Amino acid sequence: MTVQAKPVSASRIDNHVYKIFPNDLNARKTAFGGMIMSIADRVAVVAAERHSGNVCVTASVDSWHFVAPAKENDTLVFSVSVNRAWTSSMEIGVRVDAENSYENTRKHIVSAYFTFVAVDDDGKPLPVPALLPENEREKQRFEAAEIRRQARLNTRESLKRFKA
Ligand SMILES: CC(C)(COP(=O)(O)OP(=O)(O)OC[C@H]1O[C@@H](n2cnc3c(N)ncnc32)[C@H](O)[C@@H]1OP(=O)(O)O)[C@@H](O)C(=O)NCCC(=O)NCCS
Repeated sequence: MTVQAKPVSASRIDNHVYKIFPNDLNARKTAFGGMIMSIADRVAVVAAERHSGNVCVTASVDSWHFVAPAKENDTLVFSVSVNRAWTSSMEIGVRVDAENSYENTRKHIVSAYFTFVAVDDDGKPLPVPALLPENEREKQRFEAAEIRRQARLNTRESLKRFKA
């Protein structure tokens, strides 16, 4: 079955907000990282499912680095888009900013790349539409995603050999 290509704009999510309250903090009184990861995964899966039109599972997450903390009363702002789609998998780029709404400032706290795979009822991979990058930034992300995919697949192969 062939599936029609889709533009990035058909699935992207901009400015998904989450307000940080005291129960979201760690012992340092900054936002708990696992909570931020969980929201990022949830927002990213929506982009993957919009693009693929099917249920998707998280296959891997690349290089998650917290470059700055978020604090109590900050608002997390998630921006998510499909960078590239292959046969059944898609790379979703996630950027998280922390906004101080009282001072009208924002700082970048995380960027990461999720790989999702569209699956059927038995968990078997399903074909996904190709991605149509339309502007310069989307084209750059599209090219860079292929380089990261090679690294991911190399890591996957190495882990398989290690287990064997
Ligand atoms: C992800 C999963 C469906 C892949 O199934 P599989 O039988 O290994 O399938 P394949 O080897 O044919 O790979 C399918 C696709 O996934 C990609 N893939 C598999 N493992 C990957 C990984 N670790 N990182 C990136 N991509 C991966 C493959 O490159 C392939 O992509 P393509 O079809 O676009 O070329 C399967 O490993 C799985 O169900 N994992 C558990 C997922 C899960 O429970 N997530 C957490 C909760 S959502």
